[in-house]
Amino acid sequence: MGVFEELRDEISKCTRCVELVKSRTQTVFGDGTPEAEIMFVGEAPGADEDRVGIPFVGRAGQLMNDAMKNAGIPRSMIFIANTLKCRPPENRNPLPEELENCSKFLAAQVAIIKPKIIVPLGKFGLERMVKKDLKISDVHGKPLKRKDGVIFFPMFHPAAALHQPKYREDIITDFKKLAKLLKREGLL
Ligand code: URA
Repeated sequence: MGVFEELRDEISKCTRCVELVKSRTQTVFGDGTPEAEIMFVGEAPGADEDRVGIPFVGRAGQLMNDAMKNAGIPRSMIFIANTLKCRPPENRNPLPEELENCSKFLAAQVAIIKPKIIVPLGKFGLERMVKKDLKISDVHGKPLKRKDGVIFFPMFHPAAALHQPKYREDIITDFKKLAKLLKREGLL
């Protein structure tokens, strides 16, 4: 088993968050290859993801796939993960201790994949990958370059557009901006 599969196996056996272990059908490791140069970081699996075992396969995922396709970005070139690998009951927000418990798994995924571009989707991805106290409404669609050259490109969470349609245009526009960035970086 390679390191990636070992990590998937370790995650599938995790029992750190008592409530999530009880409520999950399965863990949701992530979707994509470890060779991906772009990584998306969402929040946590929802009901569809919990059932299927793949992130962003429900309505939010469909909206994201459409915006991605519209911008000419193939989903296959991205590794998609979440801050939590288990579905919180009733899709409640991740708790701070759950985020802490799961952070080593996300960090391990980043360490293996070594993405050149990281796209935090929504508040939880942004807080975990960039820093707290940033507002997604202030930083979405703007590349932030870290000292080591890794570029963060935060976006609204696609589920936001399901609840509030005004975010739909922002998401469509930001995906087009992401495509331009990928072209500039020679990745698309
Ligand atoms: N929302 C997320 O943040 N992640 C998923 O995988 C699905 C919905």
